[in-house]
Amino acid sequence: MLKIATVVGARPQFIKAATVSRVLRSTPDITEILVHTGQHYDANMSEVFFQELEIPPPDYHLGIGSGTHGAQTGRMLEAIEGVLLEEKPDWVLVYGDTNSTLAGALAAVKLHIPVAHIEAGLRSFNWQMPEEINRVLTDRASNLLFAPTEVAVENLRREGIHQGTIHLVGDVMYDAALYYGSKAAIYSFILKHLNLRSKGYILATIHRAENTDYSANIQAIFRGLMQVAAEIPVLLPLHPRTRKALEQNNLMIPVSNCLQIIEPVGYLDMVMLEKNARLIVTDSGGVQKEAFFYRVPCVILREETEWVELVQSRWNRLVPPKSDIVVRCEVFNSLTLPDGDLNSRTVYGTGQAAKQIVKILK
Ligand code: UD1
Ligand code: UDP
Repeated sequence: MLKIATVVGARPQFIKAATVSRVLRSTPDITEILVHTGQHYDANMSEVFFQELEIPPPDYHLGIGSGTHGAQTGRMLEAIEGVLLEEKPDWVLVYGDTNSTLAGALAAVKLHIPVAHIEAGLRSFNWQMPEEINRVLTDRASNLLFAPTEVAVENLRREGIHQGTIHLVGDVMYDAALYYGSKAAIYSFILKHLNLRSKGYILATIHRAENTDYSANIQAIFRGLMQVAAEIPVLLPLHPRTRKALEQNNLMIPVSNCLQIIEPVGYLDMVMLEKNARLIVTDSGGVQKEAFFYRVPCVILREETEWVELVQSRWNRLVPPKSDIVVRCEVFNSLTLPDGDLNSRTVYGTGQAAKQIVKILK
């Protein structure tokens, strides 16, 4: 019997883990222990995903919550170590690049428990980003590196990671898009609920620290989006981090403006909102790929991206949010469908990433 401890904590990790957990739990001779650090804890940032995506309740909920990087990661490290000492798993499975990822990897490697990293090898080459630090250190601590793209494999090779430990498996987010994409059409009523017309609105999400924590950036983004909304409605499911930043910057959206801010939505609603958007404006790693999966043009409000293939092939446009005018102009310039030449099946795998990962683990 192979015992795997999966460590998750933030919204995108619930979605990624849902696809892999489903395969793990249907595979004979494997048991999965699910550890939720509690990094995300609002019902609409956590619980909704467990319910909708049919993820089993966590075996351990560590209830860590928010904090500075050191405090949050440190509390997680101690709590995860306790679970690993108790459970003695054969492998620890971590996802992506959050503080929960790093804490899980670090706790395991110090106990000499092998670590498998899903979404290994992504790089922004921006060492100011907390995510970049988390990714690089997690990859270094991992014994199995599941890379989603060829670019990610190349990055790992260049860093001298032992080739035998790297596996190009495709992107588990593409698995999720295929699996839940059709369910969303059946179970989500959000378009009707919000009175939205297909292709009649722009969908936006903003939460990156480099945008929320810099007044100039958040001002440029929200002032730019308000100007866009004067021409075409903009819908923004708001991450709690960004809500705080809006308050701190005294950024008020006039009721008359068609920039509509709503609470974060569940994944099935999000898929419907993405599929039916005319354009997506985002700084999210996951959302920029989902835009491509659903063939919706996308503006990435960042200096750089880890998913470079989408920008190189002109599917997505990288727009550093220098000013409200830049944001407004680039959004309008991007309203036509891009003429990119990529195919999800070749770039992000075949939707079988989770199966491949479990096969290799076994
Ligand atoms: C984290 C990840 C980021 C990922 C994002 C996904 C790190 C360093 N960052 O960023 O890579 O893209 O999750 O969404 O791990 N908050 C709430 N309720 C919640 C969760 C957060 O109010 O349920 C607020 C708190 O004020 C908190 C802030 O949001 O301080 C930031 O949360 P945190 O988990 O530290 O980072 P994210 O910005 O969510
Ligand atoms: N998402 C969601 N509801 C929302 C916003 C995002 O379900 O209100 C989903 C989105 O479809 C994607 C994932 O959350 O699958 C991305 O998470 P996020 O943007 O928080 O983090 P990142 O991918 O940037 O790490």
